[in-house]
Formats: sequence, structure tokens, C-alpha cells
Amino acid sequence: MKTTVSIPRYPTDIYSTDAILDPYPHYARLRALGPVVWLPKQQVFAISRYAECKQVLLDDETFISGDGVALNPVANRLGRGTTLNSDGEEHSSKRSVLAHRLTPKAVRKMRQAVEEQAESIVDAALHKRSVDGVDDLATALPMSIVPDLVGWPEDGREDLLRWAGATFDSLGPVNRHSITAARGAAEMLSFSRRVVRERSVIPGSMGADVLEAADENKIAKSACPALMVDYLGPSLDTTIGAISGALDLFARHPDQWQAVRQNPDLIPNAVNEVVRYESPIRAFSRRAMRDVEIAGSTVPRGARVVVVYASANRDEREWDRPDEFDITRDAARQLGFGSGVHGCAGQGLARLEAQTMLQVLARRVDRIVPAGTPKRAVNNIIHRYERLPLELVAAEGTQ
Ligand code: HEM
Repeated sequence: MKTTVSIPRYPTDIYSTDAILDPYPHYARLRALGPVVWLPKQQVFAISRYAECKQVLLDDETFISGDGVALNPVANRLGRGTTLNSDGEEHSSKRSVLAHRLTPKAVRKMRQAVEEQAESIVDAALHKRSVDGVDDLATALPMSIVPDLVGWPEDGREDLLRWAGATFDSLGPVNRHSITAARGAAEMLSFSRRVVRERSVIPGSMGADVLEAADENKIAKSACPALMVDYLGPSLDTTIGAISGALDLFARHPDQWQAVRQNPDLIPNAVNEVVRYESPIRAFSRRAMRDVEIAGSTVPRGARVVVVYASANRDEREWDRPDEFDITRDAARQLGFGSGVHGCAGQGLARLEAQTMLQVLARRVDRIVPAGTPKRAVNNIIHRYERLPLELVAAEGTQ
């Protein structure tokens, strides 16, 4: 592909293991180079500044998702039929099949169940005192809520986390990580095909809505397996990333933890600040449908652009002291949930889970103390911890 001469290049691989583990210095260099930067290794244009990321996300007629949002052709082909990978009418009809499950009203109805789960998860964690913030707190909550909501059969749950993580990983560029992950992603899709064939979804769940929509010819039967994965895939690692990110940040900023304990009204904005600071999804891509100008640089028709949400959320043009975690800043405009028509369909639920976990912890835990070296997950798309050793010090009179 021909690149526009004036567009700077960044030859370093931002998907190498080292860059995955510590992406922020690379993002700062991309932003400094220009609004549009050519990544020769991936043959895509990187959009790393806040204003231009927003421009691309809001212009879904020029920057389409229907040709995939991954960085490799195999994943883009496998992902066909999902809400994430569709445009226009097709996208709205797919999104409408399940959107009613995640409206603010529907999410409010889940509040009690989420609170009960969070209480019992925190009970068990306080009992242990030394915990892995990832397994014992961040993973336990979404795993106790989302598979039931989606209606995934009990017998297919032991592999769910591995499959969901692999599904994200497989959306990266062609590299060792995405090639290894392709197998797990394919296993998840083939399990989903079986669930659709055997109609083994939990009655009354999202999966049952999908089958019903196909029975009523509102969507093609062939789209059902992908739609089942569509909501389950993106709902686990992302929320795990947000909750474990919050635990780590509060462990390292005890003053801000005390502020939250004294004033739990700070929690909704704290969740925005966590998602800004440690965006669980680093980046997705789009295909340009025409020659298009982005902040003075022309991106040619047919090119792929990668929208780096995690970089937009640290853009010094948009944020004062972007590399500081500060729960009192107004972080509502962060792009960690995307923006525009593909903006996260599950963010109400994700916010409910993260906020509830922090509310319960704020009431019952006086101090969250780092207790060992954390380990980051290596995943092309997901930015999260894999292990986060912590000690929880109970608040007086609460255990
Ligand atoms: C902190 C947690 C989460 C984060 C950071 C997150 C992030 C995102 C982002 C960045 C997108 C935009 C994709 C794009 O621009 O192409 C997205 C889309 C989506 N998310 Fe989330 N997500 C989270 C939780 C969830 C949950 C819990 C669910 C389901 C219950 C969910 C379901 C979806 C779906 C279905 C889409 C596709 C929407 C569309 O294409 O119209 N997400 N998410």
C-alpha cells in the first residue's frame, strides 16, 4: 500500500511482548510524532491522539467496522456476523436484539444480585486476608453474573475465561500471540455453534433472545453462534481489567482510597478514572471507505486505521497531568468504552460491577496493601493484570 509522504512512521512493533507489557511510552512517542502515524510492521495508520480518535469513532460511514476491527484477516473473517463487526442497518438490527437487556432500567434490576455476589466475594477475600486481586476479587464477580445473563450452559464454563481471553488476543496483528490464540477463539465459536444447534441456552437469557430472533427471521440463523459470543467475549477480561486495575491503583494511592471510604459518591467517577488510566481495551481498527483527511494528513481509501483508546486517554492535549491517577478529575469523557454507534453496549453493567465491588470494599476494607510483584497478562488487545498479590486489612468492626 502507498503511504502519504508527509505521514511519519513508527517502525517499533507496538505489539511486541515488551510493548504489550508497557505500552504507554510507545503511545507517547506516537502522539508526539503526529495525529496519524504509519506503523510499517502492521501496515496500518495509528490514531493515538484524543481528538482524532473521537473523530474516527464518530464517523462510522467513513471508518467502517464491517470489514473487521481486528488487525489480521483471519480474525476479521471469523468475526463476521457480530455486532462489533457490522455497519449501518445490519449493525442496528443486531445491536437491538440484545440492547434491551442492558438498558439502564435492565441494569438497575441486576443491582441486587450484583451486590449480593460482591458481598460474598469480599467475605471470602477478607477471610483469606492475603488474596490475588485478579482471581479472588476481579474475576469472581463477572464470572458469577455474566455467563448466567448470556445463558451459556453450565458444562461449557470451565474454559470460558481462556476462550474469551484468546478471542481478544486473536484480534491482534499476525504475531506469535494471535496465532497461538486462534485455537482458543475457534473452540469458543465451535462450542457456541453446538449450543445454538442443541438449543442448550439457559431459558430466559440473552442466548434465548438470540434464538427467538432467528426463529422470527429477524436475524439469520447463521448469525446466532457469533452473536452468542458477541456479548460473552467482551464482558469478562474487560471488567476483570477494570476491577483489578482499580485495586492496584488504590493500593498504590492509599490517600485516594481513604477519600473513597469517606465519600463513596466519588466511586462512579473513580471508575471512569480507572478506565481512563488503565484502559482495558487498548485499541481496535477500522477500514477507511474513502480518502479522508485527519488533522491535515490524508489517509487513503482502503487503508486500515487503528484507534488507540488507551493512548487517547493519556493524551496531554486533552488531559491535565495525564499520567497521574486522580479520582477527583472529571474523567467522564474518557474513551475506554469507545464512542459513537459501536460504543460499549455493556458499559452500564461493567460500571455496575466495578462500582459495586468498590462500594463493598470501601465499607469493609480499611487498607489495600501491595503484597508482591504483580504480573501483567500478555494479550494483543486486553490490558490487565494476570496476578495481583494484595493484603486486605479489614475496617474495624466489619469482619
Ligand atoms: C470495563 C469493561 C469494558 C470495557 C473497557 C469495554 C470496552 C469496549 C469498547 C472500547 C468497545 C468499542 C468497540 C469499538 O469501538 O469497535 C466495546 C464494545 C462492546 N462491548 Fe464493551 N467493554 C466493557 C464491558 C463490556 C460488558 C460487561 C459487555 C457485555 C455485557 C460488553 C459488550 C460489548 C459489546 C456487545 C460491544 C460491541 C458494541 C457494538 O459494536 O455496537 N462490554 N466495549
